[in-house]
Amino acid sequence: MPGIVVVGAQWGDEGKGKVTDLLAERVDAVARFQGGNNAGHTIVRNGEEWKFHLIPSGILYPGKRCIIGNGVVIDPRVLIAELDALRARRIDVGGLRISANAHLIMPYHLLLDSAGEAKLGSLQIGTTRRGIGPCYADKAARLGIRVQDLLDEKILKKKIVAAMEPKRLSLRPFERDPALDLHTMTEEYLTHGHRLEQHIADTSKLMWEMLDEGKKIIFEGAQGAMLDIDHGTYPFVTSSNPLSGAACVGTGVGPKCIDEIWGVAKAYTTRVGAGPFPSELHDHLGEEIRKRGGEFGTTTGRPRRIGWLDLVALRYAARLNTLTALVVTKLDVLSGLDKIGVCTSYSGEEEAAFEDFPYHQTVLHHTSAKLTELRGWKQDLRECRTLSDLPDGAREYLDFIAEHVGADIALVGVGPQREQTIWTDAGRRTLIASDGAGG
Ligand code: GDP
Ligand code: IMO
Ligand code: MG
Repeated sequence: MPGIVVVGAQWGDEGKGKVTDLLAERVDAVARFQGGNNAGHTIVRNGEEWKFHLIPSGILYPGKRCIIGNGVVIDPRVLIAELDALRARRIDVGGLRISANAHLIMPYHLLLDSAGEAKLGSLQIGTTRRGIGPCYADKAARLGIRVQDLLDEKILKKKIVAAMEPKRLSLRPFERDPALDLHTMTEEYLTHGHRLEQHIADTSKLMWEMLDEGKKIIFEGAQGAMLDIDHGTYPFVTSSNPLSGAACVGTGVGPKCIDEIWGVAKAYTTRVGAGPFPSELHDHLGEEIRKRGGEFGTTTGRPRRIGWLDLVALRYAARLNTLTALVVTKLDVLSGLDKIGVCTSYSGEEEAAFEDFPYHQTVLHHTSAKLTELRGWKQDLRECRTLSDLPDGAREYLDFIAEHVGADIALVGVGPQREQTIWTDAGRRTLIASDGAGG
């Protein structure tokens, strides 16, 4: 049963979109299983750039099934805008299927996300303000509106009333906001329902049937392990589980369907939003890497915080996900640096040392990165296509990562374009094995 999970192994924006697009060529379907349009996944093909927020990164291949699983939270306005933009660029979106059980982001979720952040003041999380947290909160409180509700006016209206009732107090400042008018909201969401109806399906069954026939599916993660609501740097996290384990619940297939779990990590670290970041660089080098790597958010345009590669966090992500392979992206960005820092452990208060990621928030907040310095390399890597094309310094860096994480590197990114990729033997072996398993 060939299921391949692609997850972020850091704080998001690792290059999952590019990796999914690369692998998607060889599979039958790509499914998203969590998150929403807080995600921004970039693909560059033949010099043309594509940014996806909700639609799986397989949509550019004609005839490929793309699935938005039940674990995703959907803002229907954003989804429809994304579909329209793809159609305008002559992409066939007929293969998209949306789980009838996925939850919907409602206008009040957007308002509550921003209001919640404003209330937190200096303690704010720095959310994408896309309504993600409030939507998952309603899901857990069993007050959510689901995709299937769009197809029944009476039920939709009843559920909106029930969902808004306990929020009366917090929504009072928005009383006059026309977006919150019951009639307007119901009409708007019914219209969205009409637009999306042809795509709504029992996606769990659909995926089971595909897997049962030996077809291959990529489970495309959003965000990254360190933003996981259970295992990340809580409360500075997103409201879903970006870990491989969530691929199953978020689509409605069992764990036996998963064969491969690839964790994507940049050759350095970035983080958008607030929260602890032990290997963060606050100097001109951080700024230089931000500039070279184009480290500005795909979704919100915010400058990303920059730091050295954090192997403590990466080992933690490898364990939480049971990674079968690592993908290292953006190695090209580090060219020209004399020395490259790598965080191999943390030091804490009273000379405490941590090889493992500290589970206690207060402890984590007081840690700083202990760095090992490796030699850099001068050569531009963007034309390298095999490991042997790489300068010694770059190869040593990759070996150091693989050894300290305890995982094989399957792919190395040396530029945003599809072809700016190095396949290692481990990566090729996985592909051949999964090709053999496929139908
Ligand atoms: P995602 O959210 O994990 O899909 O990542 P994003 O798309 O938000 O951010 C990754 C950015 O890095 C995008 O602009 C990609 O085009 C770009 N990118 C991906 N891989 C590489 C690489 O190996 N080198 C360089 N220079 N850019 C890359
Ligand atoms: P992709 O899929 C990077 C961050 C936000 C904020 C925190 C909570 O492109 O890797 P939320 O809006 O989810 O409630 O915000 O999570 N965040 C991301 N950071 N990449 C993402 O997605 C992110 N999605 C959310 O910046 O710190
Ligand atoms: Mg992104």
